Amino acid sequence: MVSGDGANGNPKPLAPGLKFLIYGRTGCIGGLLGKICEAQGISFAYGSGRLENRESLLNDIAAVQPSHVFNAAGATGRPHVDWCEFNKTETIRSNVIGALNIADVCSQKGLPLIFYSTGCMFDYDSDHPIGSGIGFTENDASNYSGSFFSKTKGMVEELIKNFKNVCILRVRMPLFSDLTHHRNFIKKITGYERVVNIPNSMTVLDELLPISIEMAKRNLTGIWNFTNPGVLTHNEVLEMYRDYVDPNFTWKNFSLEEQAKVLAAPRCNNELDSTKLKKEFPEILPIKESAIKYVFEPNKKKNKINLA
Ligand SMILES: NC(=O)c1ccc[n+]([C@@H]2O[C@H](COP(=O)([O-])OP(=O)(O)OC[C@H]3O[C@@H](n4cnc5c(N)ncnc54)[C@H](OP(=O)(O)O)[C@@H]3O)[C@@H](O)[C@H]2O)c1
Repeated sequence: MVSGDGANGNPKPLAPGLKFLIYGRTGCIGGLLGKICEAQGISFAYGSGRLENRESLLNDIAAVQPSHVFNAAGATGRPHVDWCEFNKTETIRSNVIGALNIADVCSQKGLPLIFYSTGCMFDYDSDHPIGSGIGFTENDASNYSGSFFSKTKGMVEELIKNFKNVCILRVRMPLFSDLTHHRNFIKKITGYERVVNIPNSMTVLDELLPISIEMAKRNLTGIWNFTNPGVLTHNEVLEMYRDYVDPNFTWKNFSLEEQAKVLAAPRCNNELDSTKLKKEFPEILPIKESAIKYVFEPNKKKNKINLA
């Protein structure tokens, strides 16, 4: 168990009654959650158990006595999600057995669970055409299972939504200020030889992860499209990268058909309707404004300092 509750030089807890147990210590979202808790003075500990091992989860809960549990653990694939196509049993172990296991354990212990999942279980269709502004809502069932990752996530959401203690957050194409991180969508697409150019819903983690902590404090449950309002195309993201970070950056586009030839599994593209999240948190910025404020402007400033 790795603790962040003030004993290691972390800020003294300012939030009495809150104690978070977080899974995914070595992961992108789990790592960021710990930093946010430290900054906000929230007592937390990382779970050392594996999601599929019920006893290890019970041991963590007994040791930490959490007020809330956060599941930011799962098989996401390295270097990308194609990994899940070739490692199906490992993917099932974490994303299906593990995800259900932790939801059930928390349910039996009466603990709220915040579950970072995905919106990559929807693909534009005739009822939600590309560019229409008609997004998939929280009531829509998955319409995309073209990759094994998406298939497991769609199946598990359908089951986990029946647990009344779980708050399911549909994350998509995360953008965040650490442009060197391999899980950052910006790092991914700036590294590709060629990219498609499709509008998509995206999640600015710097803005929305603190919102997820607020959601825990409010004991919100159910399914939430966890994306900023609106969409960005791949080219819009790359244009901002060029304009704010690297004026010499260039890229080449290719079609979905050409992309399919270099991937083991197809990728989905979609717009998620963020009305529910925006109603609860009216301050959430539209995706482009959020990306500029939280991701590109800070990196522009950093670059200027580096040049000075
Ligand atoms: N595009 C999207 O839709 C999208 C984008 C971002 C995040 N998400 C979702 O958000 C969640 C977190 O994503 P992330 O970007 O932070 O992933 P990440 O960086 O790949 O980290 C995954 C974490 O999960 C842990 N883990 C995997 N299997 C586990 C198991 N069976 N038991 C315990 N820990 C396990 C890993 O630890 P080990 O290395 O020790 O296994 C690692 O700490 C995932 O569910 C992901 O699907 C979705």
